Amino acid sequence: MSSQKRTFLVLLGVPGAGKGTQAKLLEESLRLPQISTGDIFRYNLKNQTELGLLAKSYMDRGDLVPDEVTIRMVQDRLEKPDAANGAILDGFPRNLIQAQAFGEMTASDGGVRLAPLINLSDEEAMRRITGRRVCRTCGAVYHIDFNPPKKEGVCDIDGGELYQRDDDKTDTVRNRLYVYYKQTSPLIGYYFAKGVLAELDGAQPIDVVQAQLKQLLEQKL
Ligand code: AP5
Ligand code: MG
Ligand code: ZN
Repeated sequence: MSSQKRTFLVLLGVPGAGKGTQAKLLEESLRLPQISTGDIFRYNLKNQTELGLLAKSYMDRGDLVPDEVTIRMVQDRLEKPDAANGAILDGFPRNLIQAQAFGEMTASDGGVRLAPLINLSDEEAMRRITGRRVCRTCGAVYHIDFNPPKKEGVCDIDGGELYQRDDDKTDTVRNRLYVYYKQTSPLIGYYFAKGVLAELDGAQPIDVVQAQLKQLLEQKL
């Protein structure tokens, strides 16, 4: 690894706020990989790994997968060569214990550089989540009304099949929101105190949020 400091961004926001959507759009311009712990769990589930099977019961309920497992997984992921210059974290850290662990992992880089918080109301988040569709092959994210694919049920990028996540059914979504307020929202104060929090209005169209995010990064990175 080079001696240069790595750049770490942590995207915050309720489930459905658009963290994954914005992270994917940022990857190319920042030349940093998106690290989505939810995506890694889903990938493991698809491949029936031990980790995937362990995560499944928590994800189906909308609860957090145990910290020990999650933190180790992120640690391993950060050692991959594509993260040599840093990463865009999406869905991690998700509670104070994870945030402290991540602080230690990135201490030699000066910690998290920026934590953009994508604000969105619960009602809008529910609408976003229940209309979401994801590509089985590449993980691209669509919405049946707000960001539809050119052809229904088919990924624009690779022609993969679009599916609805198991945890995007209404009851689980409610618990995910509850878990967010209880366990994840304290991170807003945590990163504010570190001077790296920046708030965005997530109710705007995808390209507007992306433009504001880029502007913010230009100012702060
Ligand atoms: P995870 O996969 O992280 O799900 P989440 O936090 O619930 O977040 P979402 O992916 O639902 O929302 P998002 O903000 O990424 O929104 P998106 O861009 O897709 O976690 C799933 C589960 O894994 C957890 O419940 C937990 O069990 C486990 N897990 C994950 N990380 C963990 C951790 N660190 N510790 C422990 N457990 C963990 O957008 C949503 C929809 O809206 C899409 O359809 C999109 O097209 C649309 N949309 C996006 N932006 C806009 C816009 N501006 N206007 C209109 N539509 C938009
Ligand atoms: Mg996501
Ligand atoms: Zn695809």
